[in-house]
Amino acid sequence: MTCRKDGITATKWEPSKHRTMGPGAPIQNNHGVELPPRYEIRLVTPNLANSISALSFFTHYFGSPIWSAIYEGRQTREALKAYHACKPFYDMPEMAARNGLSFCIWDKEFGFKKPESATKGGACYWDDFDIDDPNLEVNGRQKLLDALDFPVVGFGLSFDKFKPGDPKGWEAASEATPLNGPMGKYYETHDPRPKGSWEPTAVGQVIERVGSGMRPGYDGKGFMQALSKFIMLEMKSRGYRAIQINCGAPQMHRIWSNPPKPFRSSTLVTFPTWIFEMEEDGRKIRPYEKSKLSNLYLVWTELLDH
Ligand SMILES: CC(C)(COP(=O)(O)OP(=O)(O)OC[C@H]1O[C@@H](n2cnc3c(N)ncnc32)[C@H](O)[C@@H]1OP(=O)(O)O)[C@@H](O)C(=O)NCCC(=O)NCCS
Repeated sequence: MTCRKDGITATKWEPSKHRTMGPGAPIQNNHGVELPPRYEIRLVTPNLANSISALSFFTHYFGSPIWSAIYEGRQTREALKAYHACKPFYDMPEMAARNGLSFCIWDKEFGFKKPESATKGGACYWDDFDIDDPNLEVNGRQKLLDALDFPVVGFGLSFDKFKPGDPKGWEAASEATPLNGPMGKYYETHDPRPKGSWEPTAVGQVIERVGSGMRPGYDGKGFMQALSKFIMLEMKSRGYRAIQINCGAPQMHRIWSNPPKPFRSSTLVTFPTWIFEMEEDGRKIRPYEKSKLSNLYLVWTELLDH
């Protein structure tokens, strides 16, 4: 344990030690990023894996103007399916819940729905839903939201680009969110950087972001701006030289293309959701045409010294 200047006790991240601790671990240094006193940034710990995964799919299917429009009418089932299918992904030691590289925002005055959730410091009840329930979509958004009975109100997930983990975990994630695949390929083929000019050659160099979101009611208050700034400064302090992020929301693009100085960012690729076309069973389709956002952006943020 170390004692910070502001009197808050901080604990050094040691995966084995935190495996059995309460949800989330305190951060060592906030790098000057201040939140209102009711909130704090915490490191995501393995016991938050289900909660973070569920919240992530909730914001993905219900909050995002891209995915909520594409999956309209079946969002509840899709969110639950993805949550179950992605368990092998979140179980990987290299992935967000276990890699010590992912952070969340914690509401210290969170209003729990059930007293038993409060006694545990929070609980996720998504495993209790029957995915074949014919009434699943009726009031589905509220049912899923009520079952996120824990104080994580926002998250920023990352992994080390040099150490992505078992391809089987990634296969599970791709099957759960099949529309991420063509987009990822598009980014790859349109990346203007010469091959070999930017890729990491060891761990500790490049971070790849793998999810960002805010719980409804907590968005629009500058929390993601603060969390993202913290992530940039934290990764810099750990020796990383860059962060790559697929910005699936205009707010994310605003944040990541305007990092604090002396960091700098470039938008590498713009993905045109409405006009992107691909072939399926011999015919041309536009799988992202229903998106309410016209573009997504691949952004590269360099964590420069000066
Ligand atoms: C996208 C999301 C994470 C943003 O979080 P947030 O806490 O509401 O964002 P913030 O309040 O910190 O705002 C971030 C910045 O975007 C700006 N912004 C707000 N609306 C904007 C818009 N329509 N276009 C561009 N910038 C916008 C804000 O002014 C702020 O910039 P500033 O600090 O320079 O003023 C949140 O809305 C969310 O969870 N959405 C659903 C899931 C999702 O789409 N996730 C993103 C996947 S990459």
